[in-house]
Amino acid sequence: MTEDDLLDAARAARENAYAPYSRFHVGAAVMTEDRRVFAGCNVENAAYPEGVCAEAGAISAMALGGGRAIRLVAISGGPGDRLQACLPCGGCRQKILEFAGEGAEVLVDTPQGVERYRFADLMPQAFGPKNLGR
Ligand code: THU
Repeated sequence: MTEDDLLDAARAARENAYAPYSRFHVGAAVMTEDRRVFAGCNVENAAYPEGVCAEAGAISAMALGGGRAIRLVAISGGPGDRLQACLPCGGCRQKILEFAGEGAEVLVDTPQGVERYRFADLMPQAFGPKNLGR
């Protein structure tokens, strides 16, 4: 699986986003250190705070598949059919941190092309597994 495959997985996942309340459709995909890809989409519900982000779905799928180390995350999202740079929310940064390998990166789909971030730059001075000796 390549970076393009990962982006395609995020874009395809976005097609199935269930976001009737915000109408902000997001797809995400994670690539593990052994290059397996797992995708997710945001799923909202009438009790607004109970909705889940696309990244959370992708991470759940990864965990179910036995994945434990993320090397790359791709996110494709925006209002309706429109694409807008969608960086992971704070809660999702914490979820990614749990599994982010050394040097993990985040690819963000934008109308101008794909932006690339080092995950460590998106989550500086974090509280994470190392605080609990993991
Ligand atoms: N959302 C995601 O799925 N991922 C993000 O990184 C940002 C926000 C979702 C949550 C909600 O369903 C909608 O986008 C608007 O916040």
